[in-house]
Parts: sequence; structure tokens; C-alpha cells
Amino acid sequence: MTLTKPNIKTPPPQSNGDRLPPGPKSNPFLQIFSMVTQGGSSIEEFLEEIPRWFENYGDVVHASVLGRNLVFIRHPEDIYDVVLRKANSLQKGPDYTNERYGLASFLGNGLLTSNGDFWKRQRKLVQPAFHVRRIEGYADIMVQYTAEMLNQWRDGQTIQLDDEMSALTMKIVATSLFSEDVSAEVETVGWAMNVLQSLMTSPAVLFPAWVPTPMEKRRRRAVADLDRIVYGFIADWRRAGVDRGDLLSMLMLATDEEGGGMSDEQVRDELITLLLAGHETTANALNWTFYLLSQHPEVEAKLQAEVDRVLGKRRATLADLEDLFYTRAVVEESIRLYPPAWSFGRQTIEPVEIGGYTIPKGWEINVVSYSAHRDPRWWDSPETFRPERFLVEDPNRPKYAYIPFGGGPRICIGNHFAMMEAQLALATVTQRCQLRLQPGAVVKPSPKITLVPKDGIRMVVERR
Ligand code: HEM
Repeated sequence: MTLTKPNIKTPPPQSNGDRLPPGPKSNPFLQIFSMVTQGGSSIEEFLEEIPRWFENYGDVVHASVLGRNLVFIRHPEDIYDVVLRKANSLQKGPDYTNERYGLASFLGNGLLTSNGDFWKRQRKLVQPAFHVRRIEGYADIMVQYTAEMLNQWRDGQTIQLDDEMSALTMKIVATSLFSEDVSAEVETVGWAMNVLQSLMTSPAVLFPAWVPTPMEKRRRRAVADLDRIVYGFIADWRRAGVDRGDLLSMLMLATDEEGGGMSDEQVRDELITLLLAGHETTANALNWTFYLLSQHPEVEAKLQAEVDRVLGKRRATLADLEDLFYTRAVVEESIRLYPPAWSFGRQTIEPVEIGGYTIPKGWEINVVSYSAHRDPRWWDSPETFRPERFLVEDPNRPKYAYIPFGGGPRICIGNHFAMMEAQLALATVTQRCQLRLQPGAVVKPSPKITLVPKDGIRMVVERR
């Protein structure tokens, strides 16, 4: 997906000079929010509250939370400013870089969390592993692992879908990029990911790291587990000592202008980043896709018809992707309604004008993809699950109204990888079975680092 200059039909907002954006000033919810963004259980309310903020205050909303100035945006023109047009005035902020409560507490200084020239160099180094030609070589691994998962499922069996999708996407990313089999470590990595998801919404981060809260103990154990696994990959590679042509080899063999290589710690940071960012998001894309299909039999029937026509009984291959266009539209529509990266942020490094407001230096701007994707100005019946909307280009829809993978120089490096994986996995599952939500189950989205189904999703397998 390429994101170019947006095609905005609505007039840009009137300049408000140096006025700060409006927002809830003494909303009691904020007091709760301040505890739950940094801890608690009612974080789900935030997904209901934020559309009300946009309705009440407009496209740019300011909220001050525990001394942090947060700005929330949803207008495509403003999103374009943040991710691309004014990207030089912004950087990844504390949600990413803070070693206590940010992603850096697990990922260190990897691609997702780093800034400036260091990020630029690392991105250049990693990018070739994601070139379209290169990722095409991963199609067979994606189909193979999905088929192995299906071989384990029995007709009538109830599965924990979120665990299944997480194991599947983790194995795919580790095999494709690092030539490592993580089958034995799936539970450990999954557990570490859950610790990371809850750390960022835990009051424990309000205490210094030396306070041994139960959360802090879990955090340390999770980081130690991930270190053991990933330093194990590095040791395996050294033992074999050959260029395997994979991303791990590229990182191990990389040299800079002075002829120096990357430290083991830097390789560790990149590997953990790709392992975690590369599996959890795609797993959730698939979770929401199967959930939506279980609620929309008419869409499911169309999908089955396409998969049966294109694949019949044989395995999906790379060459089938372009014929599986409805399958692709189903994934695109699912991540519109439930974008796994439901919000992502930047911090201003100088005052920046956004939506007619001047946002002071040091403030954090959150792009709320979830709200952009459900804005009736760009989407007909936005709450309706209708994959057909992705079959033809809508000339009235601005480019930055749809940003599941972000945009600009920091666009998701794995976007094509993820779309191909989701399309192939969805087609392969659909070929062999349909998934029915366990009777009585209620599925609600929970906005953690990624948009996860609160309490998971249990599904009953029906063989086709
Ligand atoms: C449906 C699946 C996925 C979604 C929705 C998704 C979403 C995103 C988004 C929105 C960003 C931009 C964050 C920002 O601007 O702050 C991002 C960045 C990133 N993603 Fe993904 N992602 C997905 C799959 C993947 C995969 C499969 C990989 C790797 C195998 C991956 C690796 C990364 C990395 C390394 C970055 C940071 C890039 C940089 O800043 O240079 N993602 N992703």
C-alpha cells in the first residue's frame, strides 16, 4: 500500500492562531483515565469516550493527564501533517521511548522505538528483508504453518482463537525472518507479550523500577525470557556461522562506514521488535476478521465462494493472491473497523501547527486510527462491516482516512508481509472450515497497545 498526498474535499479548518486545542478540562473520566492509561481495568471505556470527545470538541482534542499534554487527532489532513508533511518536527515520544512505561522497556532501542539518524540507519539496513520480491518467498511458510494448525483442529472442537492466531503468526515471523523454529517457545513469548500489554496500563509504572511490585517482577521475568530466546537465536547463528540469506544474517553481517558491526544488544533489540511487532498485530487482524465473519454469514458465504472457486482443494500459493481479491477486501475491512494499531503517537520537538492550532513543544499527539476509520465524513455507514467498499476506489475518500499501517517514513515496515500473511491464512482456514462464536460469548475490543478482544475469543470449529 502506498500512501501519497491525500485527496481532501473538505476545506481545511480555520486558523485558530496560537490558541490551544479544546478538550475535557475537569472530566472525572480523565481521573479514571489517568489511572487506567497508566493502570486498571476500565480501559475499554476509553474507546467509547474518545468519539464523544471528537463530537464535542472537534477534530483536535487536548487532554492533560498526569502532567502529560495529550492531543488526539482524527482528520486525514492533520494525520498527513503528523506522519509526513511535518514529520521533521515530531519524533517518537515517551509511549515508545520511555524505559519505564514505554515500549522501550521491552523492545529497547529497535526500529519501532528509535529516533533520528540512528533510526534512519537501522531502517535502511532492515528494509531489504521486506522488499516485495523478498517477502514473496515467505508465502509457502505462511500457508504451511496455517495448514499445520488446521490439522490439529477437530470438527466441533472449541478453540481459543487468540492463542491459535498468536502462535501461528509468531512461528511465521520467526521462520521467515530468522530461520528459527519457535514452536517450543510460543507460550513464553505469548505470555511476555501479555505482560507488556498490561504493563502499559498498570499503576505499577508509577513506582520506580526498584520497587518490587508483582508487575515489576513479571516484567523482569518476561524480559529475561525474551532475552534468553533471542540471544539463543544469535548464538545459533554464530555456531553455524553462515549467511542464511535471512534478516538475522543481514543484521549479524551488517557493517557501518567505519567497518564496525552491530552490537549483540542492538541485534537483540531489533529481533525482539520484529518478533513482537510482527506477530501480535497480525494475530489481532485475524482475530477480528474471524469474529466479524462469524457475525456476518452473507460475507462469509461470499468469501467461501471465492476461495472455493480460486483454490478448490489445492493449497494456496503466491500466484493466487491477486485472484483472492474479496479475501483481501475482508481483511482490509476488518482492520478498518478494528485497527490492531488503534492509535499511534508522536511528540513535538518544536511548536507545530495542526488543524489550525499551535501545539507546543513536548506535547504528545495521538493519531486515533480507530476514529478516522469510523468517521461518517469519509465512510458510508461506517459501523457496517462491508468488504465491498474496498473493491473499488472511492474518489471521495481521503488517503489518510485509512491508516491501519500508519504512513510517511515511519509506515509499518511489515505492511505487505502482514497483508499477504493475513490473506493466505484467511483463505487457507476458509477452505477447510468455518468458525462459530461460542454461544453466549460477548466479544469487546480492549484498547491496549494493540486492539485486543477483551477476555479473548472462543470459537467452535465446523469442518466444511
Ligand atoms: C496487521 C498487521 C500490522 C499492523 C496493523 C501494523 C501496524 C503498524 C503501524 C500503525 C506502525 C506505525 C507506528 C507509528 O507510526 O508509530 C507500524 C510500525 C512498525 N511495524 Fe507494523 N503492523 C503490522 C504488522 C507488522 C509486521 C508483520 C511486522 C514485521 C514482521 C511489523 C513491524 C513493524 C515495525 C518494525 C515498525 C516500525 C517501523 C519504523 O518505525 O521504521 N509490523 N506497524
